[in-house]
Amino acid sequence: NQKQLLKGKKILITAGATKEKLDPVRYFTNRSSGKMGYALAEEANKMGAEVTLISGSDHLPKPFGVNLINISTAEEMFQETMKYFNHADIVIKSAAVADYRPKIISPEKMKKKSGNLVVEMERTKDILLEMGQRKDQQFLVGFAAETNNIEQYAREKLKKKNADMIIANDVTAQGAGFAGDTNIVTMFHKDNSVKELPLLTKHETAKQILTEIVLKLGDD
Ligand code: PMT
Repeated sequence: NQKQLLKGKKILITAGATKEKLDPVRYFTNRSSGKMGYALAEEANKMGAEVTLISGSDHLPKPFGVNLINISTAEEMFQETMKYFNHADIVIKSAAVADYRPKIISPEKMKKKSGNLVVEMERTKDILLEMGQRKDQQFLVGFAAETNNIEQYAREKLKKKNADMIIANDVTAQGAGFAGDTNIVTMFHKDNSVKELPLLTKHETAKQILTEIVLKLGDD
């Protein structure tokens, strides 16, 4: 019975893109729609989990039965996820978080001038890395959005971030990655096992990811 598989488990899921302001009318963002994370949240709820979804996306309907928290910047994403991290059994980071933000946010709309504009960017916090360092009972799952050397980068992330599983998607492959309703993912585990999924809807991908996590939790 699908309903029972995640009963009693607290799941923290992140979704969508962050937005880093340059001035009151402009920001830096990326192509993540939030669909992958929302599909995970909906399917986890159907499997009986207590779900918190921290989302940078503000245009998708609120998933039924899910505690939805909207954020905008990487810093807000960090603050909100950390509030729920300690009590979570499973954490899945499908959000596309900005790695850099403008060092200075102009309080007024920037006026155009002649010549080029150079914007100095500073690093944001790496939330997955931070979680890997603080991790206790949590089963920590990161995503890797890559365009090349998928397997190598996924394995490096697994180690560096101290994650239990990295879900890699080749965001240049037809039918995979950002914005669409389908994805093609490969799951890399800490124990070196690998599971490749075919092209599936994001909902079906989510179900398979959650089932894989349940299996791994059972192994421990
Ligand atoms: O939202 P959709 O349109 O449905 O698209 C889904 C997706 C392509 C966004 C999703 O499947 C995906 O791959 N998400 C991760 C995107 C990403 O930012 O990957 P990354 O390789 O840059 O980051 C690796 C991991 O570190 C991710 O789990 C990310 O959440 C996390 N991270 C990144 C930067 C940062 N400052 N803090 C983080 O925690």
